[in-house]
Amino acid sequence: MAAVTLDKMTKVYDGATEPAVDGLDLQIADGEFIVFVGPSGCGKSTALRMIAGLEQITGGDVKIGERVVNMVPPKDRDIAMVFQNYALYPHMTVGRNLDFPLRIAGVEKAELESRVDNIARTLQLTELLNRKPGQLSGGQRQRVAMGRALIRKPAVFLMDEPLSNLDAKLRVSMRSEIARIQSELGVTTVYVTHDQVEAMTMGDRVVVLNGGELQQVAAPEILYNRPGNVFVAGFIGSPAMNLWNSRLVDADDGALGVALGSQVLPVSAELAARTGLAAHKNKDLVVGIRPDDMFDDGAVGSTIVGSMKAREALGSEVIAHLDVGVSRVIIDDPDLEEMIAEGVTPELDFVGRFAPTSTAAIGEDIQIRFDVDKLHFFDAASGLRIDSDA
Ligand SMILES: Nc1ncnc2c1ncn2[C@@H]1O[C@H](COP(=O)(O)OP(=O)(O)OP(=O)(O)O)[C@@H](O)[C@H]1O
Ligand SMILES: [Mg+2]
Repeated sequence: MAAVTLDKMTKVYDGATEPAVDGLDLQIADGEFIVFVGPSGCGKSTALRMIAGLEQITGGDVKIGERVVNMVPPKDRDIAMVFQNYALYPHMTVGRNLDFPLRIAGVEKAELESRVDNIARTLQLTELLNRKPGQLSGGQRQRVAMGRALIRKPAVFLMDEPLSNLDAKLRVSMRSEIARIQSELGVTTVYVTHDQVEAMTMGDRVVVLNGGELQQVAAPEILYNRPGNVFVAGFIGSPAMNLWNSRLVDADDGALGVALGSQVLPVSAELAARTGLAAHKNKDLVVGIRPDDMFDDGAVGSTIVGSMKAREALGSEVIAHLDVGVSRVIIDDPDLEEMIAEGVTPELDFVGRFAPTSTAAIGEDIQIRFDVDKLHFFDAASGLRIDSDA
């Protein structure tokens, strides 16, 4: 096992004008489970393939352990990789598929058998060792592919969207399976996905990429509670955070407030002090609130007036689409950007996650409570989070 260090790792494809991966700095600890997440084309696979040695590095360094491996071929990097499209040998049993890499390497029989035993137990494949791949479910096949990658005891395990061919239910159960196997084996793992829920539920730390650039690397709860910039704020969380263009204004009693269209949300003195917000008085801000921090009942926070445009009653909650007199800011939504380019104005309602007992009806004007202690503030020019202890 080994730590992995990326030092300004960069990839510019031949003929490209922009780097696919732009000066990525990252230290992955020995045994850590790191997830790369970001929208399509942000450079996740390119970054992973540079660690694997499948893609030439055009700038910076990749270190596995203490060794710079930029020029080391994949087979000599002590890595194993599982892709979205893994192939098992259809004519071989599960057992043979698993021990194949060891037989190739000439590992002696007793050692080989004990390793197959161990990996089959960890992956819960013991009962299936004599079956052929054609007699397995999608999830079982995926576990065999992982087993075959892991049986060589690689220093680093790399996975690129390994679950995207599985159906939704299996994907959910395989998430926790992979996390369990990773922690049992303690192998340093880099996992690529475009699915932020997968990223948040699996990673010790999550690396958010956009346009080839590192946006933030942090534990899932930090990404969620303290997104470092507007992009991360809008990308992590579903439904997405409501973000709008705003300014600081004077609210009642000399307190600060943030504008929400023609309405004002007061900011508590405590929050203003903690974030150092006052220093941003005459600057453009982007302010955000998560759907979970908006309510149509209770006594939390401050109320504004809005109207209910649509409701999705999901049983456990009501997803409310709200007109609050302000449009949301679009964060990296190619579909919306395309609509705007075509002259269509997309509906950018605020979204609230209300209690299942919510009775607010479509078309109705309602009082909406914002938990104002949960507001997120960003500098509009830089996109960076405003937070004095960030
Ligand atoms: N072989 C290649 N030659 C030229 N450009 C490439 C090549 N592979 C990828 N790119 C470009 O590099 C950028 C990053 O691609 P990459 O495949 O790393 O993205 P990704 O984050 O894995 O996306 P996805 O979620 O769609 O898999 C994209 O703009 C892509 O078009
Ligand atoms: Mg990819």
